[in-house]
Amino acid sequence: MLKNIVAPSILSADFSKLGQEIKDIEKAGADWIHVDVMDGHFVPNITVGPAVVRSIRPVTKLTLDVHLMIKSPEKYIESFAKAGSDIITFHSEIEEDPKEVIRLIKYYKKKAGISIKPGTDIGSIEKILPMVDMVLVMTVEPGFGGQSFMSGCLPKIENLRRIFKKDIEIDGGINEENSRDCRSSGANALVAGSFVFGAKDYSIAIKKLRGGV
Ligand code: DX5
Ligand code: ZN
Repeated sequence: MLKNIVAPSILSADFSKLGQEIKDIEKAGADWIHVDVMDGHFVPNITVGPAVVRSIRPVTKLTLDVHLMIKSPEKYIESFAKAGSDIITFHSEIEEDPKEVIRLIKYYKKKAGISIKPGTDIGSIEKILPMVDMVLVMTVEPGFGGQSFMSGCLPKIENLRRIFKKDIEIDGGINEENSRDCRSSGANALVAGSFVFGAKDYSIAIKKLRGGV
């Protein structure tokens, strides 16, 4: 039975007190910490690197769910793994062979995730599904928090759930209005940045995402 996961994205956290923010969402009931890594090439935004993963590792026992929106991820797997990532997810739309990147993530004994943008269909990753621990389905164009949820991506999750029995994570524009649809479509791990960190009470926001308020 897959766990019902809520993974707040620190992209929307207050970076002037990131350690405290992470302690607060852990206390508020988060399951994973979603770390959005952007390089300004694969996506038109730049965020954090391995140094931030290394600095937050000792602050929390929660799973560090690292989402690499970067070109040539194979160059950085070692540093993200050694920094303390638990799950390392990269995008299927990169130029390199995803199988090589997955092998590298596994070499460092981390869980491997593959992510697909809204315009990418599951046929393009079908062959590598047996190799990965998780599929991350984007419901916004990657690059920024606070965008609107693309409900047209939900059928993709339903189709994926028919052939993939491990963790399916959904990411982008998720809030209390659409979280139920996300879960009923077959996603068991929900990423939310602005909905959680924009809330006055993080634990109420997380409960709402679990469908329990
Ligand atoms: C977008 C990131 C998402 C984003 C989620 O490229 O991958 O994780 O931060 O933020 P919200 O929940 O605000 O859309
Ligand atoms: Zn993300």
